[in-house]
Amino acid sequence: MPLLEVRNLRTFFKTQAGYARAVDDISFTIEPGENFGLLGESGCGKTTAAISLIRILPPNGKIMGGHAIFEGRDLFSLSKEEIRKVRWRSISMISQSAMNALDPVYRVGDQIVEVIRTHLKKSRGEAMDRARELFSLVGIDHQRLHDYPHQFSGGMRQRAIIAMALALNPHLIIADEPTTALDVIVQDQILRRISALQKQFNASMIMITHDVSVIAELCERAAVMYAGKIVEVGNISGVLKKPYHPYTMGLKNAFPSILGDKKNLISIPGSPPNLVEPPAGCRFNPRCPFSIDICFLQEPSLFQVKTDQYAACHRVAEADSLRHQASSREIWEQVDAAA
Ligand SMILES: Nc1ncnc2c1ncn2[C@@H]1O[C@H](COP(=O)(O)OP(=O)(O)O)[C@@H](O)[C@H]1O
Ligand SMILES: [Mg+2]
Repeated sequence: MPLLEVRNLRTFFKTQAGYARAVDDISFTIEPGENFGLLGESGCGKTTAAISLIRILPPNGKIMGGHAIFEGRDLFSLSKEEIRKVRWRSISMISQSAMNALDPVYRVGDQIVEVIRTHLKKSRGEAMDRARELFSLVGIDHQRLHDYPHQFSGGMRQRAIIAMALALNPHLIIADEPTTALDVIVQDQILRRISALQKQFNASMIMITHDVSVIAELCERAAVMYAGKIVEVGNISGVLKKPYHPYTMGLKNAFPSILGDKKNLISIPGSPPNLVEPPAGCRFNPRCPFSIDICFLQEPSLFQVKTDQYAACHRVAEADSLRHQASSREIWEQVDAAA
């Protein structure tokens, strides 16, 4: 049985201009112990998908439909009280804004103790022992538990949040751009640390990022999100080595570790659409060098292209040729000219 099965999730935000269809009918499953990537540029709905699962949407956000079956229960039909018990205990989240997640007026250690004691019947002493253990796991001297957040560097604060996210041995850890705010070297250390701990705890993880190389390094499977949709999903060797969706091909071009040389980086022209009125047909069509008539008329569904790989493109049958063309700068420059 999968640990998490998300089916037809739709989450909209109410805005002055109308409903923004931030997550618009996505489905995926995660197996126990699996490290699942959610990849896409900023504004494609990754965070919205994550915070929908644990139901911490802002007031203008609403889950419009779908199911999220976690360990046999639908997270969307739990009461407020029940979902509160799931957070931290079963599903924890290391968020993009983790830098601000620590309360400046309390000592870091006390905040970890608080999380532990809210969910588990433990004495303060026992919880403090656990906090010490967690600090050594994330590589911070346990003396620093007595510090206030402002005494920590950005990297240390992020490690403290990771410690907190691991405190209750959750079965699923959602890491939403956990290192974006940090410098590259610290980023790398922290990603390795998260991944090692996740393996050690045998938790599953959803690693959310815009960075293809992070997914390539850490994940076994991944979904690529564009404009509120999953456009490609499957195992990493397929999705990142032999993508079938032009968006995935384009994302790959933009990252050095896969293509090698930095000066050869090619970015996808334009940016993701406003989701109040997304483009008709395939939402990627305005930026796609390969769009043909049908792409403007009909939304492609996910076609199975390999045992564990699906892509939502009308031209999946020509993927080998498109992949070859997508590695040239000229083809993407043509899009720019047309836009
Ligand atoms: N609170 C909000 N109100 C209105 N629109 C929002 C809100 N939060 C996010 N959105 C919109 O939802 C879409 C997806 O955003 P988000 O989930 O943050 O994407 P990502 O995490 O991939 O960068 C974007 O178009 C964004 O503008
Ligand atoms: Mg985000």
